[in-house]
Amino acid sequence: MSERVIPLIDQRLVSVAARIPHELTAPTGLLGDALGRPLRDLRISVTDRCNFRCSYCMPKDIFDKDYPYLPHSSLLTFEEITRVARQFVAHGVQKIRLTGGEPLLRKNLEILIEQLAALRTVEGQPLDITLTTNGSLLTRKALALKAAGLQRVTVSLDGLDDATFRAMNDVDFPVADVLDGIAAAQAAGLGPIKVNMVVKRGTNDQEILPMARHFKGTGIVLRFIEYMDVGATNGWRMDEVLPSADVVRRIHAELPLVQLDASAPGETAERWGYADGSGEIGVISSVTQAFCSDCNRARLSTEGQLYLCLFASQGHDLRQLIRGNATDAQLASAIAAIWQGRSDRYSELRASLPPDAGAGTRRVEMSYIGG
Ligand code: GTP
Ligand code: 5AD
Ligand code: SF4
Ligand code: SF4
Repeated sequence: MSERVIPLIDQRLVSVAARIPHELTAPTGLLGDALGRPLRDLRISVTDRCNFRCSYCMPKDIFDKDYPYLPHSSLLTFEEITRVARQFVAHGVQKIRLTGGEPLLRKNLEILIEQLAALRTVEGQPLDITLTTNGSLLTRKALALKAAGLQRVTVSLDGLDDATFRAMNDVDFPVADVLDGIAAAQAAGLGPIKVNMVVKRGTNDQEILPMARHFKGTGIVLRFIEYMDVGATNGWRMDEVLPSADVVRRIHAELPLVQLDASAPGETAERWGYADGSGEIGVISSVTQAFCSDCNRARLSTEGQLYLCLFASQGHDLRQLIRGNATDAQLASAIAAIWQGRSDRYSELRASLPPDAGAGTRRVEMSYIGG
């Protein structure tokens, strides 16, 4: 096993204060960053806790019982989250994804969803409100989530075989319970449902074809994600990445595929349809084919830090502004200034470096800012 690098400082504490510009400017619904990329997608982490310990995200030896999770007083309240989200929507955000950790562990999440569902885009349309979940609580919560105004869910599932799934989630959670959760979401009308599978070569890549066969023809879009060097604790190695091109090749050999056009600008997944018309799959190639050039995603951490990139090493502290009595106009202008200064494109830059160059870099964890 390769040597594991354990960060000596808590990366969550590294932040810059969000500043209120001297001249306030009203949001116009179109905000470009330093590379001309618009702000369209806001991902909100509602908890840094999870009941799984996926090796690529919250490895057990680091996220153990002594791990310093955020205290309740640090978390943004639902009212604070909705207030921040409203400013983002005024700047052109059209999609909100709730993430974690595991977002369904946050108490009364339905109340937040109700508040977010009442927001309207600058064009007066409802937002696309979705949620990423490991599915463990979906059977219990699907109906209430739908009733609160959630439109769809994306469920993480890394294999159909229990032994393999256990090797990924590390808590012995049965595959059947996640499949029941997906069925409950489907029955509740939380679609189109997507299933995200992180592929680690040598750990779960033998599950690619069984997963494709299982979800083909169900209306569920299965997406294969390249294992990323996100965070600083998962001991990432390039040789554990299975390039998406290989995923497509393996599936195509048994179930012929044709490439489909992107359905939205800045989309993470490349789409492939089954040649027999029985649905589609997606591949997300953040490692072998970075998609930073039209990245339109901002991330808000559980305690109100704004992150401009999944690989950022520091956030911009919005909570300080909110709790320091900033007005909405001031908050919106501060967000605009931060986004306008954004030039992050980590995955593209990393592609031109030696494969393991980023390994061990101090970076915030994905369980803290959300996928
Ligand atoms: P849809 O709206 O359903 O298409 O969702 P999405 O693909 O925008 O978001 P989702 O959270 O399902 O993304 C799937 C996976 O893609 C994440 O878990 C990450 O592994 C990866 N991903 C998402 N956004 C980014 C990003 O901005 N940068 C990188 N490098 N990877 C990302
Ligand atoms: N590489 C790729 N995706 C990751 N996720 C978490 N950690 C990683 C990683 N290292 C994503 C997965 C998972 C979601 C919650 O976060 O898509 O399903
Ligand atoms: Fe939890 Fe999702 Fe991270 Fe797995 S990937 S530990 S389910 S937040
Ligand atoms: Fe966006 Fe950063 Fe991901 Fe590139 S690496 S797509 S800039 S979040």
